[in-house]
Amino acid sequence: MSPAPFVTFEGIEGSGKTTQVRLLSDYLTKRGISHRVTREPGGTPLADEIRSLLLSRREEFVFPETELLLYEAARAQHVRAVILPALSSGQAVLCDRFYDATVAYQESARGLDGESVDRFNAFASGGLSPDLTFYLDVDPEEGYLRIRGRGTRPDRIESEKMEFHRKVREGYLSLLERHPGRIVRIEGSHPADDVFRRVCETVSARLGW
Ligand code: TMP
Repeated sequence: MSPAPFVTFEGIEGSGKTTQVRLLSDYLTKRGISHRVTREPGGTPLADEIRSLLLSRREEFVFPETELLLYEAARAQHVRAVILPALSSGQAVLCDRFYDATVAYQESARGLDGESVDRFNAFASGGLSPDLTFYLDVDPEEGYLRIRGRGTRPDRIESEKMEFHRKVREGYLSLLERHPGRIVRIEGSHPADDVFRRVCETVSARLGW
């Protein structure tokens, strides 16, 4: 285990993970538990610029290989500049997405080979791996409706076809099978308070929070 816990949240678009990160952060603040909230892609000025490049809609076709390398470039910067320093100073880190997203999106949905994705994930993360990962599972149709309900223009990835989002979900489900000890599935279609109750039960049992 890292010096302080590294907890990640994953799910398809509209799964509600960002809300759960916020709720858990509020809970930790109330209990005086030092932590840092961050997200991928992003978390540093350079990684945030890469995020904008990745999510903006564009005429030019973005090849899956290019997309993979951009996500990994943002991660390499984020891990070294933000996550590792926070963990080694004793701050827990709550991260909205990490390398499981690369397996679900770039391997399962874009079709890149798993060996390359695993290799680049390991290289960018410098061997860092989450202690605990919440996977909020929602049906892609429901996630899509939630995204539409926000009233903002969907970004380049949110605008992908339903088939793409189904493959992302399948990718997450196969990760869940591969890492049953680390990844905890929570039914994401339930109300946010119910989902948060499960998150709390888990962090209390696993991390003593
Ligand atoms: P967000 O909308 O949850 O902040 O995530 C940004 C988008 O980037 C989302 O569509 C998922 C996608 N993504 C990947 O395709 N690969 C990755 O490795 C990561 C971290 C995110």
